[in-house]
Amino acid sequence: DGAPEAIDTQDKGTPDKWVPRDPRMLSDLYSQGFFTSTNLFFVRNHGAVPQVDIEKAKNWQVEINGLCNNPVSFSVDDLRRTFEVVTIPITLVCAGNRRKEQNVVQKSLGFSWGAAGISTALFTGVRLADVLNFVHPQKGRRMDLPNGHYGTSQLASWARDRKRGMLLAWAMNGKALEPDHGFPLRLVVPGQIGGRSVKWLTKIELSSIESQHHLHFHDNKVLPMPVGPDQARAETQWWYDPRYIIRDLNVNSAIATPDHDQVLAATSDSEEATFVLQGYAYAGGGRRVCRVEITLDEGSSWSLAEIKYPEDLFREVTHDDPVYGRIDLTEEDTCFCWCFWSYAVKVADLSKASSIAVRAMDESLALQPRDMYWNATGMMNNWWFRVFEHPTM
Ligand code: MTE
Repeated sequence: DGAPEAIDTQDKGTPDKWVPRDPRMLSDLYSQGFFTSTNLFFVRNHGAVPQVDIEKAKNWQVEINGLCNNPVSFSVDDLRRTFEVVTIPITLVCAGNRRKEQNVVQKSLGFSWGAAGISTALFTGVRLADVLNFVHPQKGRRMDLPNGHYGTSQLASWARDRKRGMLLAWAMNGKALEPDHGFPLRLVVPGQIGGRSVKWLTKIELSSIESQHHLHFHDNKVLPMPVGPDQARAETQWWYDPRYIIRDLNVNSAIATPDHDQVLAATSDSEEATFVLQGYAYAGGGRRVCRVEITLDEGSSWSLAEIKYPEDLFREVTHDDPVYGRIDLTEEDTCFCWCFWSYAVKVADLSKASSIAVRAMDESLALQPRDMYWNATGMMNNWWFRVFEHPTM
């Protein structure tokens, strides 16, 4: 795994001991701006990356079959020629984003992602909904997305909904996918956890049952809190309960600046001197983040941060960007991206605070919780993101 944030293996601890080993990476990611360059884009692979040369890529086929009236097999070129090609901005988030905080409380089954298990790119491909229409699916089915080493499922009604934005993509940030990111073809499922975006895609099967793939059951679940890691490992009934499957991302936010323990330089001695707190927020299923709030006193009082949405950030980007080429930016498509927030705080107030916390709310009014929902896989951690103890100078 090419995790962009250092992995550490701290065991139990108390919240006031949370100081990541390498606190620079989220701020690095954030300082790149809205798009993540491909070399800093997070990577999460459950096995070896398939070796696919150009010749093999030309002959790469994705089969679409199962419960449909017109099963087909497409090469990447066939897809390009047959369907409308779109380029849209999408944020991918690993379900384990922010797991490090859970592992500090109690070690989960997963490794310690910081808050940088997230990245945004422009993906180019064709809409899965258009491809599925082509095969005439029978009603009310699921889609199985296996590729031998990896497989998962998707509700067919969602996959057929253009507004859900799912793509069969071959390019990222204007270039062919890198091997790590699924060259030559991957699925990109915006608004859902990254685990649904199957890389090196070879098969889509319309089926009446959930994917039977091992990783579909033993991954990407939020098991009930009382189920500890050993119990989860030993007792399969937890994994097979469909109620614990994760679909959409939950609302989340993080502080990129300042980092834990960062020494803040006040630009003046004036009582009015300010420091700008900054970070990201996102929600799932195409829902927008509707507010981001900051507290300097562990939730006794909150202040509203300013939010910049993708369309604000893109205002200057035309449909023919010199770097990225064409960008198809519809209002629906921009809901599948993170947004950036900022809040100017008086240095005098900051120096009195022992912690800074952020929380976001999405348009379904789901709000990040004060308390952690610890779970055996360490997934979907979205309690208030906190930064502790900042000396100012
Ligand atoms: N697809 C395959 N074939 N194999 C994998 O291991 N990992 C999944 C998903 N697709 C995976 C996969 C997971 S868990 C995530 S979070 C995303 O890919 C990460 O995509 P990225 O590595 O391009 O960021």
